[in-house]
Amino acid sequence: MAEWTPNSWRGFPIQQVPDYPDLDHLAAVESQIASCPPLVFVGEAQRLKRDLAAVVEGRAFLLQGGDCAESFAEFSPNNIRDTFGVLLQMAVVLTFGAAMPIVKVGRLAGQFAKPRSAPTETIDGVELPSYRGDMVNAMEFEAAARRPDPERLLQVYHQSAATLNLLRAFAQGGFANLEDVHRWTRGFVQESPMGERFMQVSERIGEAIEFMRACGITPESTRQLRETEFYTSHEALLLGYEQAMTRVDTITDDGGPYSTSAHMLWIGDRTRQLDGAHVEYMRGIHNPIGMKCGPSLPADDLLRLIEVLNPDNTPGRLTLIARMGSDQVRDKLAPLVRAVKAAGAQVVWSCDPMHGNTVKSSTGYKTRPVDRILDEVRGFFEVHEAEGTYAGGVHFEMTGQDVTECLGGGQAITEVGLADRYHTHCDPRLNASQALELAFLIADMLKTRRSGASLALAEAS
Ligand code: PEP
Ligand code: CO
Repeated sequence: MAEWTPNSWRGFPIQQVPDYPDLDHLAAVESQIASCPPLVFVGEAQRLKRDLAAVVEGRAFLLQGGDCAESFAEFSPNNIRDTFGVLLQMAVVLTFGAAMPIVKVGRLAGQFAKPRSAPTETIDGVELPSYRGDMVNAMEFEAAARRPDPERLLQVYHQSAATLNLLRAFAQGGFANLEDVHRWTRGFVQESPMGERFMQVSERIGEAIEFMRACGITPESTRQLRETEFYTSHEALLLGYEQAMTRVDTITDDGGPYSTSAHMLWIGDRTRQLDGAHVEYMRGIHNPIGMKCGPSLPADDLLRLIEVLNPDNTPGRLTLIARMGSDQVRDKLAPLVRAVKAAGAQVVWSCDPMHGNTVKSSTGYKTRPVDRILDEVRGFFEVHEAEGTYAGGVHFEMTGQDVTECLGGGQAITEVGLADRYHTHCDPRLNASQALELAFLIADMLKTRRSGASLALAEAS
């Protein structure tokens, strides 16, 4: 393969590029960003790679979640706090179900650019460029708003820096205290229409906490109970921005170039062409990376992509995020899992049950039924169990706010109810209750897998 440089991607065919009217302006902004401080430290990205290696080995489970698209309008400390809070609650419930560490990665502090299925949108005979996320243009259906503006890259950089700063303070400053997080979950269980179903798990977590307290292991005495490790991630869609954030590491012994825009980056399902610019950029950075695997991905292509993206077969480097849809996961995922296993490739397999389950409601909203989301996760676990491989994680679009964007769940959101609080800038997100309900249901699956594993061990001995 030809030599990689942070800008070698520019010589490859590229998908999903915004049509910037002023390329000199874009170049000027990119060089300004190149002189800004990194958002994450290389040592942190390396730690995430090690944590993900534990997932590959079946000793940990990945929880990745957050906004479909962060926006300038919804930027507020309360939104960040609430999404982070729900992720922590989910992580505690999953820790209990899996009886292993949960690696927590947010779709936060940089998730602003969106791939689109069509470059333009037509309403009442007027055709305008599609909205590509606040990193590119504005959502309003007006020519000026839809014009790509490079200044938005700088605003993304600054909003990401502020968001990350708050997340770091929350993770290390006392907000992640296990006893507090459990108290919120107890409150949720008491009020939830599905609460009875979750009560037993919640009570057992409470007992475990009391037992630890009785033994002198408390948040006051033990850092792990009052702090948490939290990583950030986004889709690496705008490669000019990623190139500007690429730094050669001078502190650790790795030496490699990293994108310092987030700990983990992923390649979307629409930009994973073997000979394309996105794969070229991503193969050269040393961050842990993800790749979305949709139903159109043949097993042969997947194996070739794995060779390019993880030539040394380093565990933790590559996470394959399957997003097949509940109706296809059982048929389409199995051949991929089998091929990857036969090739001996060391990867994390994670399940994004959101992007293959988007439907249009009769009331005109883009939505996702919670039942189908849960069914895709179930199918994902079934396939891995049948293939003898490890179902390593889940990937959600969710928010800490009480929105009405996905159908069903304990609140039984209906097609008519979607109109109440439909706020998303792009895809429908799980609200706080739906996200936590799913965590309880997935914790059940993890617990079943765990008892299955110990039964097998008992039989073998
Ligand atoms: C996304 O994760 O927001 C996304 C667009 O996913 P995909 O590339 O899987 O469609
Ligand atoms: Co999305």
